[in-house]
Amino acid sequence: MKILITGATGLVGSKLSEVLRAAGHKVNYLTSREEAIKSEPDNQGYLWDVKAMTIDPGCIDGVDTIIHLAGESVFQRWTDEAKEKIMASRVNSTQLLINLLNDTNHNVQHAITASAIGIYPDKWEGPPMKENEVPPTADNFLGEVCVAWESIGMQFKELGLKHAIVRIGIVLSAKGGALEQMAKPVKLYAGAGFASGKMWQSWVAIDDLAGIFKHITENQLQGTYNGVAPVPVRNRPLMETIGKVLDKPVFLPNVPAFMMKLMLGEMAATVLSSQYASSSKIQDSGYSFKFSELKPALEKYLD
Ligand SMILES: NC(=O)c1ccc[n+]([C@@H]2O[C@H](COP(=O)([O-])OP(=O)(O)OC[C@H]3O[C@@H](n4cnc5c(N)ncnc54)[C@H](OP(=O)(O)O)[C@@H]3O)[C@@H](O)[C@H]2O)c1
Repeated sequence: MKILITGATGLVGSKLSEVLRAAGHKVNYLTSREEAIKSEPDNQGYLWDVKAMTIDPGCIDGVDTIIHLAGESVFQRWTDEAKEKIMASRVNSTQLLINLLNDTNHNVQHAITASAIGIYPDKWEGPPMKENEVPPTADNFLGEVCVAWESIGMQFKELGLKHAIVRIGIVLSAKGGALEQMAKPVKLYAGAGFASGKMWQSWVAIDDLAGIFKHITENQLQGTYNGVAPVPVRNRPLMETIGKVLDKPVFLPNVPAFMMKLMLGEMAATVLSSQYASSSKIQDSGYSFKFSELKPALEKYLD
């Protein structure tokens, strides 16, 4: 298959591109940076500029599936300007892809768009949340972004394409992202949980997340799937397990919520909310996880 990936230069996209190509697929990708363009037989870059709403139409040649991951990082202070970029980069980029499909002869049959478990409202007890349990959605900016992102993605379906959404959890990888940020203080013996430490953190190993996108692509699945591991953990045990794997015990008391809010502002919502998401739908569709439990994943990705 030939797959067009947006965000292919990022944490998730670069792994996904590698996994798809290793399985014999060809990848086209869109990037906003000229220096990130490669021209290889199975890996061809194209330029787009989401702000200017321009896109190289060649990106769609021979493509069967679009995987849309691109978006401004949410891990920054949520100033008004940052919020505008976070929202616009997702909504406008999706619109740009839809415009291209509308204006071009193409063979695309399937679109898979990213979203995040940030769409779920806090859940502290009871069973993990399934894909059909929203609305209600999280009452914060991330919830708003996910709703806007998912609803504009529905236009792929209106164009007659099959459409799937992956609500991505906290991605664990050896190459940066959330795990690097969580491990940094632990390495300095300054690791701690946040607030009550009881927030659910629905994580996913990068190898599994790439595997989930590949599984959805190859099986042309439709609908919404949580991209999370089968065994989520709460915040304090997560930090303590990082400490165990690094052999640097986590002994400090948790950082109070008000301190997190002072340090991070409104963005503290990303670390203080309790997102408890179920992996059963993607498993029922035939996906087998490599990393169901946290510790083996941490042993693979931490050094
Ligand atoms: N990592 C996680 O824990 C996590 C959790 C939940 C959801 N997600 C979502 O999954 C997607 C991929 O995550 P990731 O961790 O791989 O992200 P990432 O490493 O930050 O990469 C995102 C990519 O999007 C492109 N991009 C960044 N800002 C952009 C902008 N303003 N306009 C257009 N394109 C822009 C960049 O590509 P170029 O520089 O090549 O243009 C970048 O490589 C994101 O949408 C993210 O919100 C991630």
